[in-house]
Amino acid sequence: MDSSIDDNVSWRGCSMDEIHRYLNEFELEHVPPVRPSDHDSVLYHFPIRCDTTEAPRPLKGQDKWDANHVRLPCSSRSQYPIVGDEGNVTIERRWKMVEQALLRPIKTSQELEDAVLSYNSKYSDLWNFQSLHQLFEEELDESESKEFFDNILPKIIRLALRLPSIVPCGIPLLKQGQNRSLSLTQLQVACLLANAFLCTFPRRNTTKRKSEYSTFPDINFNRLFQSRGQSVIEKIKCICHYFKRVCNRTPTGVVTFIRRSIPTADLPNWSYIEAPLAVTPLHITSCGTIEDQGRGLLQVDFANKFLGGGVLGHGCVQEEIRFSICPELLISKLFTECLRPTEALIMVGCERYSNYKGYSNSFVWDGDFEDDTPLDSSRRKSIHIVAIDALPFAKTSHQYREDLMLRELNKAYVGFIHPLDTIAPGVASGNWGCGAFGGEATLKALLQLMACTVAKRPLVYFTFGDEKLRDSVHQIHTFFIENNVTVKELWRYLKKFQEQKLAPSALYDFICTCHTDRHSSNQGPSSSRKQRGTFVKTPTKEQTEPVSSSKSNQQRTKDKDAASSSGSTPSVLSPDLFDEHSEDDMLAAVAEKLEAELVAIDTNSDEETSKNSSSKAKEAASPKTLLPKSSEKKSKLKQTSLLEMLDRCYTGDSPLKRRRGEAENF
Ligand code: APR
Repeated sequence: MDSSIDDNVSWRGCSMDEIHRYLNEFELEHVPPVRPSDHDSVLYHFPIRCDTTEAPRPLKGQDKWDANHVRLPCSSRSQYPIVGDEGNVTIERRWKMVEQALLRPIKTSQELEDAVLSYNSKYSDLWNFQSLHQLFEEELDESESKEFFDNILPKIIRLALRLPSIVPCGIPLLKQGQNRSLSLTQLQVACLLANAFLCTFPRRNTTKRKSEYSTFPDINFNRLFQSRGQSVIEKIKCICHYFKRVCNRTPTGVVTFIRRSIPTADLPNWSYIEAPLAVTPLHITSCGTIEDQGRGLLQVDFANKFLGGGVLGHGCVQEEIRFSICPELLISKLFTECLRPTEALIMVGCERYSNYKGYSNSFVWDGDFEDDTPLDSSRRKSIHIVAIDALPFAKTSHQYREDLMLRELNKAYVGFIHPLDTIAPGVASGNWGCGAFGGEATLKALLQLMACTVAKRPLVYFTFGDEKLRDSVHQIHTFFIENNVTVKELWRYLKKFQEQKLAPSALYDFICTCHTDRHSSNQGPSSSRKQRGTFVKTPTKEQTEPVSSSKSNQQRTKDKDAASSSGSTPSVLSPDLFDEHSEDDMLAAVAEKLEAELVAIDTNSDEETSKNSSSKAKEAASPKTLLPKSSEKKSKLKQTSLLEMLDRCYTGDSPLKRRRGEAENF
């Protein structure tokens, strides 16, 4: 049902029921169940034998002190030089120092700072926990501060010092170029985060460019404690609330982090994707948020390539807020190397613990949040968040450059790929890259729509209060549906936009004009062919079912090679999306494109006519009308038989070469 007839609702396009395919919102699977393998590390005993009232037992193992694992603070190799009274230097196990410092009574934020600095003495002149002091000495009343230092902090410390028993095995890093996953219990995450809160992780504090972890996000909370601003205070409240919850009631679930890295060769060739954008159901709304209304969907984290962005600093927009109200997301910063252009991180099962109000500088913690999301078969909350980092644009015009649009398109595609053979749940996204990163939402909405079309996933788009954006995206999507615009056609128009030197606001007009011009020049002898359906067959139901995308990348490459060697249009997409184009379909398409060329030649020969027809096309295609009437322009084209046209197709050129050449001309 299209809501456009009812202006009283905040949404346009198809209903959320349609997005969920009239199923329960958590019915469709997003990712495979947890299963240990060479690429899937599971840090607890698998399969889980205990019931849901107990945390799964940690996997025993050897401490790993190397470049492929997290260097844990409790490792025997984590050592620290101690200068004795006589100036002699001895090397001590750093963990002993951590234990001694934290097991002393700590009753104030200053004493907490002193304890932390005692095992980070290198930074004693640099670190200043001013926001921690502001929170406990000014923001909270005395009883609240006392409650924290008497009851909560001791539990955080105890949890942190249980690290050797809660995480007895190495934690593999999720490094660039790897397709691998890591599953941990929520208790292991809480223990690791307690260590981050107490800044115990070694080698993670230097900012030297060439240091070992310079390509990893920060993890110790010192930067948060020393940042200024009310939103910093509010983020610390979210984190303290998280610890209060997990220290009082041990979480018993599991979380999984999946790094996805797609080689460029396996990415779609967008200039050949015949999929019509019409196959992608779009629900677009100016109300709500991804985390509240995106339940059951793949929820997009508008990420920084260094995951978490400024969450442990001043930042407080979409990603930082999500990481603050769902602090288990923070642990991704411990082991996820910064994302490359064709990489994404999927974070499964990270529970929400806090409510909030406001945004950015007005962000405030707003109490407890009980997350009632159901568990999946691996005992993870059915919450799936994909971190994809957009490009930051200093100059708006840059984002229309083909190479940069392609980067964003591929990034979204990598994030939205569905790794299973089953029907893909929808994507919940919005103005990705259009806030701190300065992107244009009208462009990003189209790029995400294209990515969803190829990934065969419905799209729920939150415009975050922007009703004008909601309506214009809905209108252009309606135009795509009613004019059977394909991904490759839209990509062609987007590539042409930059050279027009038009304002970003002219993008949708331009697209409609391009498409109407192109197709109105197709009117005439071939219009009868239109009745026979365009080259892109209207996808039948099974065609819009997800293709088997559980294939490995190699398999996908084989498909692509197979497709191109068989003479059909080279496409990364498995042929399931659309039936293999039979030869006569191919010929019909080639003929149609040839007719269009002939008509264009004919039309252009009469300057006057062409000016009128193109201005008519422009007027017909402007967003106001958006639904251009079929032009009655009578072509003066001499009727040539189809056979004659087809003969010409074959004069020397293979159909494919001619078709490809033609495709480029349009
Ligand atoms: N749900 C839906 N839409 C949202 C939400 C939400 N919860 N929060 C914000 N938005 C919309 C707003 O319109 C916002 O301007 O998304 C837009 C983009 O949000 P940003 O966080 O600014 O995302 P981006 O422009 O991609 O900047 C990413 O900011 O959060 C940091 O670490 C992140 O460094 C990265 C940068």
